[in-house]
Amino acid sequence: MRISVIGTGYLGAVHAVGMAELGHSVIGIDVDPAKVDTLTAGRAPFYEPDLDDLLAKHVESGAVRFSDAFGDAAGADVHFLCVGTPQRRDGLAADLSYVDAAVDALAPHLDRPCLVVGKSTVPVGTARRLAAQLARTAPAGTAAELAWNPEFLREGHAIADTLTPDRLVFGVDSDHAESVLREVYASALDGGTPLVVTDLPTAELVKVSANAFLATKISFINAIAEICETTGADVVKVADAIGYDARIGRRFLDAGLGFGGGCLPKDIRAFIARAGEIGAGQSLLFLHEVDAINLRRRERVAEIAAELVGGTLIGRKVAVLGAAFKPHSDDVRDSPALNVAGRLQLQGAHVAVYDPQATENARRIFPTLEYAPSAYEACRSAHVVLHLTEWPEFREIDPSDLATVVAQQNLVDGRNCLGADAWRAAGWTYRSLGRP
Ligand code: UDX
Repeated sequence: MRISVIGTGYLGAVHAVGMAELGHSVIGIDVDPAKVDTLTAGRAPFYEPDLDDLLAKHVESGAVRFSDAFGDAAGADVHFLCVGTPQRRDGLAADLSYVDAAVDALAPHLDRPCLVVGKSTVPVGTARRLAAQLARTAPAGTAAELAWNPEFLREGHAIADTLTPDRLVFGVDSDHAESVLREVYASALDGGTPLVVTDLPTAELVKVSANAFLATKISFINAIAEICETTGADVVKVADAIGYDARIGRRFLDAGLGFGGGCLPKDIRAFIARAGEIGAGQSLLFLHEVDAINLRRRERVAEIAAELVGGTLIGRKVAVLGAAFKPHSDDVRDSPALNVAGRLQLQGAHVAVYDPQATENARRIFPTLEYAPSAYEACRSAHVVLHLTEWPEFREIDPSDLATVVAQQNLVDGRNCLGADAWRAAGWTYRSLGRP
């Protein structure tokens, strides 16, 4: 099929390449000419495992092209909206200006029957409004139909999540829209991927509900970590034990510094805001607590770091391992690691950060932190080392080797995944969250 993908950020670039891999002919549209140039050269504008190779392959074969002109999308049968919906500057709600601008720019070019498919995460009710807007402003009128097909891709696993999703959700207003989407995703459906076909508001709600549940699961175990910290219990053992209950499951019960990134934090806040707008604020009051527990973990790590270096951070060197909001990504949006790094710097510490992929992005938003070329360089002469993003290479660090470069052997394992015994045996004061 001929497919356009509007917006080529973390979601859109992966979706465009994924659609090409599934055998479709794809044009990716972005308003940023620099991004279009990079993609056209076969290079991804951000780090995502395997994306560069797949992109180069499909740019070379001509299966995917990129342009900054919306008119170039006109010939497509299906148009995917993949633009961002960040948090508004003036409150908790989602900023829909990029979605609105994309529909405004695309609609005048839709002069033949087509399906516009929203993938961006939007407040429930947005799709109905956009469907009416499309019918009003597209030359094709109601033949330019709208559907909603939320994405569930995780950064760092985005290619696999796109090619072999764990489920598909089609929010549609007609059988025609359903059959078009079935054709787009034929290979996944043939492979047995579960499909939920529903209406527009339900499809919108599936996405925000999924992210609200994941955020709640993480904050639940982090709340238990707080209890563990005052009782001497071990949150990892609690998570392991309750995780064996198939009704609970172990995944997303990793206690530590909590969640960040471009999705979970802003999605739960937008959900709270939308619930308030529709008179159902009480239903999601608990999400305020989910947010608060999550943010408290950042404060706690900063407190532990200060305790370890004698109560004050002034004049102390802090090494921060990790800047991305999670491993296998260069995304630093609402990164818990960078938040802690910035916080400690404001408390007077000299902070050196190392991340295998996210240094450039981190430097752009926190230019005053020092960025080291390796974990060892970041740790040189440090009074405390903070492990804040669980990149695999940090697990490989030999505690005895690292001891030779630091000023003091203090470690805070903010992700609870370095071997406590090995670090303690090598002479380190090892602290983590929710564990003795
Ligand atoms: C999330 C959803 O998982 C995905 O389905 C949706 O499409 C977009 O939002 P992503 O933002 O890529 O994906 O990250 P995710 O893997 O969900 O992790 C979010 C944050 O939670 C990270 O900061 C991670 O470190 C943290 N996390 C995750 C925990 O603190 N504990 C856990 O057990 C799991």
